[in-house]
Amino acid sequence: MAEVVLNQLLKSYGGVTAVRSIDLKIPDGAFAVLVGPSGCGKSTTLRMIAGLEDISGGTISIGGRVVNDLAPKDRDIAMVFQNYALYQHMTVYDNLAFGLRNRKESEAKIVEKIAHAASILSIEPLLQRRPKQLSGGQQQRVALGRCIVRHPQVFLFDEPLSNLDAKLRAQMRIELKRLRERVPATSVYVTHDQVEAMTLGDLVVIMKDGLVQQVGTPLDVYNRPENLFVAGFIGAPAMNVLKGTLDAAGERVNVEGFSMAVGEKNKAALRGYAGKQVMMGIRPEHMSLGSHGNEIDGSVDVIEQLGSEMHLEIRVGNAQLTVARVAPNAPIRLHEQVRVSVPAEQMHFFDVDTQKAIRLVH
Ligand SMILES: Nc1ncnc2c1ncn2[C@@H]1O[C@H](COP(=O)(O)OP(=O)(O)OP(=O)(O)O)[C@@H](O)[C@H]1O
Ligand SMILES: [Mg+2]
Repeated sequence: MAEVVLNQLLKSYGGVTAVRSIDLKIPDGAFAVLVGPSGCGKSTTLRMIAGLEDISGGTISIGGRVVNDLAPKDRDIAMVFQNYALYQHMTVYDNLAFGLRNRKESEAKIVEKIAHAASILSIEPLLQRRPKQLSGGQQQRVALGRCIVRHPQVFLFDEPLSNLDAKLRAQMRIELKRLRERVPATSVYVTHDQVEAMTLGDLVVIMKDGLVQQVGTPLDVYNRPENLFVAGFIGAPAMNVLKGTLDAAGERVNVEGFSMAVGEKNKAALRGYAGKQVMMGIRPEHMSLGSHGNEIDGSVDVIEQLGSEMHLEIRVGNAQLTVARVAPNAPIRLHEQVRVSVPAEQMHFFDVDTQKAIRLVH
């Protein structure tokens, strides 16, 4: 295991800057997930750590050693790709043995390491098959096995589950969590799926346009998003965001014809914004039907029945709000007027210009 440190990491391809300036410290043994929309520089960052891409500026250290100029094979990393990258003409066993034979390990040691990895991944019955005789999930397990047998200091994953269907993806997510217990290693995992980021990461790194927006634990980034981008990206359904104006006393925010108390804590944070415009954010799961807390009246535009719960789209003036976690049997009809409430302490506020969260610094 080893700490991975990125220092002012930069990558440009001619005129295109893929990664602007990334500073990131991944502690020894931690599982860090880089998440963000397509094109934000996740794979480029990972490939630079792997040594598959030259860096245009900054440094990368693994285990206290700057690896900028080291070849991939000398970095003590193992990488799992989206497309598995298995050798099609070899059996699973030979796929697993390939890297070890290249390193001139003894056949006895290879047999032992493969037996260990195969048992962790439950692929013992598949060892004599070729990749095309395996399902997607099985191929993905073999790709993981190839990394495990190498005992690297650092695991790198680039969207390893994105070729799998939703059900298998959920299963493999759980297997990856189990695997972490049995094969601890510092890991960097790239995905654009925020559920994977939240469930797998000790550390979630949210990226946009080649820059890190926030680094934190899953609960940090959910409860205390540092800006509007993170607020909108983490959480499903996405946070409702509305523009409002704070009253002169800084106690209430007026939005689309309704007015909400901001609560004591937010009032303290919003000092200085009295009479000004702010962006207000409310998570769909923090709103509930009925009158308790701040109330909003609106008409039901869309009902999404999920079985375990309903999601509602509610029209309030010109604004549209999503309400989640409504009981699946709630007596709600389309186009009817409903009242929803949100506790003031669940409301988030952001600066209109900087888009940064407005909150008290602890
Ligand atoms: N070889 C290349 N030449 C030129 N531009 C590139 C090259 N590789 C990537 N880019 C650009 O760099 C930016 C970041 O790409 P990257 O592949 O890192 O994004 P990503 O976050 O992994 O996206 P995705 O989720 O779609 O995989 C993009 O704008 C991309 O077009
Ligand atoms: Mg990518």
